[in-house]
Amino acid sequence: MRYGLISDIHGNLPALRAALDALNEAGIDRLICLGDLVGYGANPAEVIDLVRQQPNLTVIAGNHDRQVRGRRDPRMREQAAEVLDWTREHLGPADLDWLAGLSQGLMLDDDQILVIHGALTERDAYILNVNEIRRNLEVMLQEYPDFRICFFGHTHVPLIVSPKVVVTDLKATKTLNLDQNEVYLVNPGSVGQPRDKCPLASAAIFDSERWSLTIVRTEYDIESAQGAITSAGLPERLAERLATGS
Ligand SMILES: [Fe+2]
Repeated sequence: MRYGLISDIHGNLPALRAALDALNEAGIDRLICLGDLVGYGANPAEVIDLVRQQPNLTVIAGNHDRQVRGRRDPRMREQAAEVLDWTREHLGPADLDWLAGLSQGLMLDDDQILVIHGALTERDAYILNVNEIRRNLEVMLQEYPDFRICFFGHTHVPLIVSPKVVVTDLKATKTLNLDQNEVYLVNPGSVGQPRDKCPLASAAIFDSERWSLTIVRTEYDIESAQGAITSAGLPERLAERLATGS
């Protein structure tokens, strides 16, 4: 089975189109979306539409998806909250219901895969530093001993870690052969708002027969995504950061 993995699209339609084209060209059997379809970007309805059109799709909710209409986390930054208010006004009731009904995490038993948005330790924690990596690997080994790989998003930074290996330099498309005897935490990076100082859309392909993982980095029409943010009257900083991947 070849799994396509996308996360943190954040209303960026040109980036989503480019990432899906790249995954489909490479060939995938199933698409997993790790959440945060909306927030930050100016095309939330179009993004939801295009994701839902994909065959063999599995989607979970991200913190932005959950908070468009649900209870707001007081830790959410002001700019993010402002865009969520805008998003709520620009989505129809059917889309809002669909977001509210998304699962918060999944286990795909056939290939021993866990699918979450944030972290195993705490739903909205960020797996960004060595301590968080260690704590989450411990939770995985202790609480999910039958699972081999956990896909997560939320940090917008592509990352591949096992108890022995940490791979962070993923600014270009790269394939790694994973060790079948290890467990892994894998972040495919962000489709629509990368934050690893690389503006390319980020996604991944996991081949569960070969146990190989490819991080797929793709150029997309950044100016078009920026233009949509500006025309919608959303904070200019959200357009600017797309050009630098910050
Ligand atoms: Fe996100």
